[in-house]
Amino acid sequence: MHGVSKRFPGVIALDSVDISLAPGEVVALLGENGAGKSTLMKIIGGVYQADAGSLIVDDVPCTFRSPSEALDKCIRVVFQELSVLENLDISENIFLGRELRKAGLVDRKKMRELTVGYLEKVGLKRPPSTPVAALSIAERQLVEIARAFSMKVRYLILDEPTSSLTLEESNRLFEIIADLKNEGVGIFYISHRLDEIGVVADRVVGLRDGKNAGALTKEEITHEAMVKLMVGREIAPSVNAGPTTASEVVLEIKELRTSRYPNIPVSFSIRSGEILGLAGLVGAGRSEVTRALFGIDPAQGTIALKGETLKVRSPRDAINAGMFLVPEDRRNAGLTTTMSVGENIVLPAWHKFSALGLKKQHPARKYATEGVQQLNVKTPSIDQIAANLSGGNQQKVVLARWLQMNPKVMIIDEPTRGIDVGSKAEIYTELRRLAAQGLAILMVSSDMEEVLAVSDRIGVMHEGHLSGILDRKDATEEAIMNLAVGGAK
Ligand SMILES: Nc1ncnc2c1ncn2[C@@H]1O[C@H](COP(=O)(O)OP(=O)(O)OP(=O)(O)O)[C@@H](O)[C@H]1O
Ligand SMILES: [Mg+2]
Repeated sequence: MHGVSKRFPGVIALDSVDISLAPGEVVALLGENGAGKSTLMKIIGGVYQADAGSLIVDDVPCTFRSPSEALDKCIRVVFQELSVLENLDISENIFLGRELRKAGLVDRKKMRELTVGYLEKVGLKRPPSTPVAALSIAERQLVEIARAFSMKVRYLILDEPTSSLTLEESNRLFEIIADLKNEGVGIFYISHRLDEIGVVADRVVGLRDGKNAGALTKEEITHEAMVKLMVGREIAPSVNAGPTTASEVVLEIKELRTSRYPNIPVSFSIRSGEILGLAGLVGAGRSEVTRALFGIDPAQGTIALKGETLKVRSPRDAINAGMFLVPEDRRNAGLTTTMSVGENIVLPAWHKFSALGLKKQHPARKYATEGVQQLNVKTPSIDQIAANLSGGNQQKVVLARWLQMNPKVMIIDEPTRGIDVGSKAEIYTELRRLAAQGLAILMVSSDMEEVLAVSDRIGVMHEGHLSGILDRKDATEEAIMNLAVGGAK
């Protein structure tokens, strides 16, 4: 690509960007939230058209007016915002738009047979007939990846493919990437997990505010060099959990049985000032616990808040009691993407303000603006439609919404999914600050570094069981992995 520019109302997303990719090469694209990475990839994938500049594929200048034109050139994109369809099953998603047929009819059996192989390759243990609606975000991510691999591909774009995968699934993906490389496939790889980039990338290209910000050769790739490339300055290392100031028990869970694991009771408690991290492999049942606590899925067992038993039949009950969930799935359960940033932040707090509408001078505007400032959300104004924010900034809006509500218990599923290193550190500091104010926090995370950096104690789940809770001082990557794969404490 030469001199590629792209403008949206009020935003210059790309400003004369140059980038190249050779067959068999993995180029990592680095940049803070909103730097323009996804926009650049969407131009290659035919989702957006550039305002200026050229895209050259195999020496031929191309303009893709739609994703199917990019597909014709064997360019496959695994988008950051997952595009699997909930009302179809796994195999139907994988073969969407190119269904296998036999005597004119869709050949479900054949599609399912082939799907078994693809799922095995990415490590997803679900039957091909499972409806996607029943899958967690990480599992959907694996389906999305399996779909890309199931087709003939010459250039592959992976936009944060591992953002909700744990170490094991990510490692499997890296093996697949190595195979594809050997077959001569060129890959653009985007991730905010910097440790991965050293593993997969042959070269790093930096973007800052929509412009080229330099590049690193394989030999130059270090954590420090990557951070500097992204943010143009060095950042403080992420916080380590401070001494536990835990006192009274705020949240107590006794024998919680979720609908996915009805025969496995889970019990734990969280004290005021404490962050309990919840680790485990994809499908271990962590998100099910958070959904049950928040009243999204029916569950059995006792939930007590500050000693009082709480009946949580719906999210409304949880919210009224001061227990909030920041879900892993920000597109469906977190953010209303058609509303503005400000409306999203004010949404659960409307009762505090007299009139609807974010008009001038309205106190709700101040409330929303504070939320945006507290988490440093990158948006031209609070009136921007949430869908137009970059992925990481959408996540910050969801966090800002609940932080503005002064919660007692905060349940956070993948708090920094898709968030850049600088903002991650800000969010960790914010979580620690909230805990210090007496909040009890339950944090589900697939990012091992994050779990270790932020938690006071770490609960590890394996196939629905809470297989152990480690104190911070005993928690190492090995100890967590051991419990996560079903080992004893
Ligand atoms: N459809 C759109 N309409 C308006 N603005 C947009 C649109 N898509 C992207 N933008 C803006 O363009 C800029 C670049 O966004 P982009 O999604 O490319 O960032 P990114 O580097 O992928 O960030 P992240 O790491 O958060 O995913 C952002 O300021 C974003 O708000
Ligand atoms: Mg992006």
